[in-house]
Amino acid sequence: MKQKILKHIPLKLKHIIVWSLNLFFSRNNLLSCIFKTYMGGDKNTLHIKSMTRLKNCHFRFKGNGNQIIIGKRCKLNGLHIMLEGNNNIVYIGNNVIINASQSKPTIMNAVEGTSIYIGDECLFSNNIELHTSDYHSILDNNTSVRINPSKNIQLEERVWVGLRTIILKGTYIASNSIIGAGSIVSGQVKESNVIIAGCPAIVRKKNVKWMLQKINSLTQPNVK
Ligand SMILES: CC(C)(COP(=O)(O)OP(=O)(O)OC[C@H]1O[C@@H](n2cnc3c(N)ncnc32)[C@H](O)[C@@H]1OP(=O)(O)O)[C@@H](O)C(=O)NCCC(=O)NCCS
Repeated sequence: MKQKILKHIPLKLKHIIVWSLNLFFSRNNLLSCIFKTYMGGDKNTLHIKSMTRLKNCHFRFKGNGNQIIIGKRCKLNGLHIMLEGNNNIVYIGNNVIINASQSKPTIMNAVEGTSIYIGDECLFSNNIELHTSDYHSILDNNTSVRINPSKNIQLEERVWVGLRTIILKGTYIASNSIIGAGSIVSGQVKESNVIIAGCPAIVRKKNVKWMLQKINSLTQPNVK
C-alpha cells in the first residue's frame, strides 16, 4: 500500500480525505514521512520532491486549485500548512529545514488566493507562524471598502527564522538574513545579510552571514 502511494508522488488528488497517511520511501530509506492530509475541493495538488523527509506534518486544503510544492532534500519536522479559499500556493524550495515538533509546529497559512514562497536553504525553528491574511475584514469607516487585503509572503534563500516568530501578510525578506526569536515581522526588508528582530521587527545588524554549525569564536576567530 505504501509503495503504491509513493509511486504517485507528485500526488494529484481530488475529493480525497486522508486523515492519517504514513509514507515511507523504503526503497532508498531517504524519506520518512508521517503527515495528515485533508483534501476537499477540486484540483488541489501536493507535490513533494525527491529525498525530502517529513515528520509531524499536516497539510489541509480547503477550496479549489490550491498547491503545495516542497522541494528536494528538505528536512521538515512539525510543519502545518493550511490553504483556504482558491488558488493559494505554498512553495518551499530545496534543502529547507524546519526544526519544530508536533506540540510546537511551524504554521504556514495561505488564504484568499495568496502565496507563501520559501527560498532554498531556509531554516525555521519551532512555534513560527506565517499568515497571508488577517482572517477578518477591516473597512474604511466612510466608504466600507476593505483596507486589509491578504498579501503574499516571500522569504528569499537562506533566511533563518528564530523561534516564536510571527510573519504577517506582505512580508518580504531578502536572502541570507536572520529573524530574531519572538519577532513580529511585516513589511519588506530588501537588504540581504541583515538581522531583523523585535516587535515590530526592524534591522538590528547589517552585513552578517550565518551557518548551521556552531563555531567556537574564541578558538576560530577568523572563520570565513
Ligand atoms: C537574532 C539573534 C540570532 C541575534 O544574535 P546576535 O547577533 O548575537 O545579536 P545581539 O545579541 O548582539 O543583538 C543585537 C541587537 O538586536 C537586539 N535583538 C537581538 N535579538 C533580538 C530579539 N529576538 N528581539 C528583539 N531584539 C533583539 C539586541 O537587543 C541588540 O540590540 P541593541 O543593539 O540595541 O543592544 C539572536 O538574538 C536570537 O534571536 N537568537 C535566537 C535564534 C533562535 O531562535 N534559535 C533557535 C534555533 S533555530
